[in-house]
Amino acid sequence: MRRLLLLFAIATALPVWSAQPVRAKNGMVVSVEPHATEVGVKILQAGGNAVDAAVAVGLALAVTHPSAGNLGGGGFMLVRLADGRTAFLDFRERAPAAASRNMYLDSNGKATQDSTLGYRASGVPGTVRGLDLASQKFGKLPWAQLVRPAADLASKGYALSYSEANSMRGGGRGMERFPESKRVFLRDGKYYEPGETFIQADLGRTLDRIARLGAKDFYEGETATLLAKDMQEHGGLITLADLKNYKTIERQPLTGKYRGYDIITAPPPSSGGVGILQMLGVLEGTDFAKAGAGSATAVHYITEAMRHFFADRSEHLGDPDFVKVPVTALLEPKYILKIRGSIDPEKATPSSQVHAAVFTGHESNETTHFSVADAQGNVVAVTYTLNGGYGSKVTATGLGFLLNNEMDDFAPKPGEANMYGLIQGEFNAIQPGKTPLSSMVPTILMRDGKPFAVLGSPGGPTIINTVLEVAINMIDWNMNVQDAVNWPRFHHQWMPDQLQMENGYSPDTVDLLTKRGYTVRRVGAQGECAAIRFNNGWLEGAADPRSGGTAAGY
Ligand code: GLY
Repeated sequence: MRRLLLLFAIATALPVWSAQPVRAKNGMVVSVEPHATEVGVKILQAGGNAVDAAVAVGLALAVTHPSAGNLGGGGFMLVRLADGRTAFLDFRERAPAAASRNMYLDSNGKATQDSTLGYRASGVPGTVRGLDLASQKFGKLPWAQLVRPAADLASKGYALSYSEANSMRGGGRGMERFPESKRVFLRDGKYYEPGETFIQADLGRTLDRIARLGAKDFYEGETATLLAKDMQEHGGLITLADLKNYKTIERQPLTGKYRGYDIITAPPPSSGGVGILQMLGVLEGTDFAKAGAGSATAVHYITEAMRHFFADRSEHLGDPDFVKVPVTALLEPKYILKIRGSIDPEKATPSSQVHAAVFTGHESNETTHFSVADAQGNVVAVTYTLNGGYGSKVTATGLGFLLNNEMDDFAPKPGEANMYGLIQGEFNAIQPGKTPLSSMVPTILMRDGKPFAVLGSPGGPTIINTVLEVAINMIDWNMNVQDAVNWPRFHHQWMPDQLQMENGYSPDTVDLLTKRGYTVRRVGAQGECAAIRFNNGWLEGAADPRSGGTAAGY
């Protein structure tokens, strides 16, 4: 028996200890901010289902995690109901009607900072409409009951955590340029301290109207009128008509298989689902897992799959309502075989030899993901964002919420490298009404027809690789969900040709990879995964230790 146990320990290649997830039987919420997680658990306890709880968490994060939680941004919700139905709600921002291809270029054709900072950087926000549709279609509780906790957190205030207070002070650089943001989030320079009660009276009034009057207030009512007026007075593009015309798009989730697991994931305009399925397809036919978690050989194979996908992403991904995204061709078994066949088992392939045209889009780290599951077996994964931390840094006058800078997820100048060294492509050029390409990839893993795990992360392009790695950690290396989330991460995106590795990787491993031809760049943290796993009747929740988040259930 002892020998058997020892063999098992070696085979799974896990550390001798395991980090423990939070376990509960009836419901589980994982989000990046404890007050918001608590709101979700209370909604479940009050008889709401996972969709109700997700809607309430999304609204609460707009109050308690203002760098990414939002009313003024957009995102994706992936739902799998206990009865087997699935849905993908695309409530991402759209380019305003007045947007145009070269709107961020100066008279010399150089890209300006207007796509990232200020009123002109915002796409038409989708969050309120998206959450409203989710509640109408799949929720059980009345809308007002889902909005009220967020309205109360804003108007009565809550104790700021260390990480949120520090984030507002430092991460919000740029907010001081905009008087309304400076007043609301920076208290005109008398920064909020950890533990202080943070009251957002304007936001409380906005949420109160949304609770009483519904999403209509945001898109056609007083909120819409004030937002459009503010935009007009400051040279922004969003009009009352843009707000009124905003629609959440219901799309078919993308599905695939990996080692007997069914994967339900994000379709375009997310690039993430195609990426996850292509990379898993490439890896499934290799022996990478035998080398063990964290080994240079495993990192090498996974990185080569990443390199190929990100090359494809550059050329072929965009808004499917505007460009033809060849999803089937990118996931074609013959094509996947070709990619796999091109991987040298020993050596890194220089990215210059991996062919694709140009890279489309980049996203910043400041997005957020939350996962919810209920006792009935409904599961929800939401990733939403303002794009950059605190978005465009503009707070809508008198309304209390920040506006996104999602227009920067388009290619402001197709064909030219952006500030991250990524080259942007034609498929993702700006057009009125178009949705910018995204990397957000809320994902559900299924086993034998039942949910196995639900997960997602912020992190711009690294989102896709974070989700890939956490899934592999659970499936290939049998890690529990907390170990899978904690495990050190790495990222490669074809261009620039460098392998980004968290400091958790040993210098020896880095050395082995360098000898294989990689240029390694060390980083502190990659992503903030929020995951739930279903395990023998238990819901196991894992917040990411890289974040200030929590998992809680009942
Ligand atoms: N702005 C982050 C993303 O959509 O990927």
